Amino acid sequence: MNKKKKKIKNIKIYNILNNKNNKKYENKIIKTKGWIKTKRKSKIGIIFIEINDGSCLNNLQIVIKKKKIKNYNNKIKKINNGCSIIIKGKLKKNKKNLKYEINAIKLKILGKIKNAKKYPISPKYHSLEFLRKISHLRPRTKIFGAISRIRSSLIFYLHKYLQKKKFFLINTPILTSLDTEGHSKMFKIENKKKNFFNKKTYLTVSGQLNLESYSCSLSKVYNIGPVFRAENSNTKKHLAEFWMLETEIAFSNLKNIINLSKNLLSYSFKKILKNNYEDILFLNEKSNNKIKNLKHIKNIINKKYIIISYNKIIKILKKEKIFKKNKIKWGINISNKHEKFLTEKYFKKAIIIKNFPKKIKPFYMKTNKDKKTVSCIDIILPKIGEIIGGSEREYKLKNLDKNIKKKLLKKKKYKWYRELRKFGTIPHSGFGLGIERILMYITNLNNIRDVIAFPKYPNNINF
Ligand code: 4AD
Repeated sequence: MNKKKKKIKNIKIYNILNNKNNKKYENKIIKTKGWIKTKRKSKIGIIFIEINDGSCLNNLQIVIKKKKIKNYNNKIKKINNGCSIIIKGKLKKNKKNLKYEINAIKLKILGKIKNAKKYPISPKYHSLEFLRKISHLRPRTKIFGAISRIRSSLIFYLHKYLQKKKFFLINTPILTSLDTEGHSKMFKIENKKKNFFNKKTYLTVSGQLNLESYSCSLSKVYNIGPVFRAENSNTKKHLAEFWMLETEIAFSNLKNIINLSKNLLSYSFKKILKNNYEDILFLNEKSNNKIKNLKHIKNIINKKYIIISYNKIIKILKKEKIFKKNKIKWGINISNKHEKFLTEKYFKKAIIIKNFPKKIKPFYMKTNKDKKTVSCIDIILPKIGEIIGGSEREYKLKNLDKNIKKKLLKKKKYKWYRELRKFGTIPHSGFGLGIERILMYITNLNNIRDVIAFPKYPNNINF
């Protein structure tokens, strides 16, 4: 009788190194695939390579002995850092360090490194500035593996929390003729065929107005997607293309969005800390400003914020000698310097600033009873600055029209948005959360260009 050959299992490195069930593969022949990260030869001629397949932070060691591998000399010459391979062998626990490793019995090379001298990713340290120039290859480094896994988890858990709370995802458009914020610098779409849309068209700066339209029916809605800003902000905290999560909630007020922001961040941080612990720890260890016990993450999980009004913030800043007295006036924007002082020196905590002056905020925000301020929040984190901006929306047509006029905007352009106030208007509120700013905070990296796959910023489109 023809005995069926037992298929050898292909196991991801994560399952070999971290899975509680990995005991079931111990002393068994398995297969795994990945890229070589290091290669060294022992004094007695054994080759040790470490491979990684991106499924987790740590590499898997492969032990290669001459007598076990067919065509050994030829193969060993060809493999080096960066090569992609398939390994077959016995999974063993290393007696010294108790880590799993594979004693290879077969090695197949899938992709060689054609010109090793020209391959820019080596096992040595590369600066983040250097890696930015080769953004198509930087995912191969340990650091970008960790960042990418954390980013993926963050977006997943943000979705998960909102879905659990019965929010509906609305895919708001990227092409638009409308400026959500009123006076943003937008990227204009050029098309060979002139007047494709018969209107000036841009890349959107925010999906908020579209979300408002859906919240006026589905009540609780959100989006996560790329938005575009053409400001020439060449800073460590600004991108020309970044990802934003926005929520919009019918029948809600400022208190509701403060609570939602705090709960959403607390939930997703808690999950990420559990699921991406190794990655977070690794990045924190690498950072120049290591944070003891990952306290920054725990503070957000424990919802430690100071909630304070803009008026009170101005009073605090006025008393501070480090700021020029005549520069601190009611009506100014809270700058980076002020944010840094407040979160890192004065309160030493994340802060939520409420009720900013009407004249420095967009037309859609609801005016407070004092007529001078609007019902809004900025959430500001130590070292990062603003991560969330939100507000109650002006839901009465008369007041909205007054704002449109005061901000010198064209009423005609906002025709459909105004109609939301004409037909069954409701009090509603929402906020926008900058995904990359949150990632900077979690990963403790200080340049926003390193927490997005292919960063776009002035003079850099990459590809
Ligand atoms: O405060 P912003 O501009 O708010 C809006 O766009 C609202 N329409 C959102 C809403 O209420 N639905 O942006 C929201 C967040 C900021 O708090 C910040 O975290 C991030 O987006 N952000 C940027 N991130 C990276 N690069 C930039 N150029 C950013 N500008 C804003």
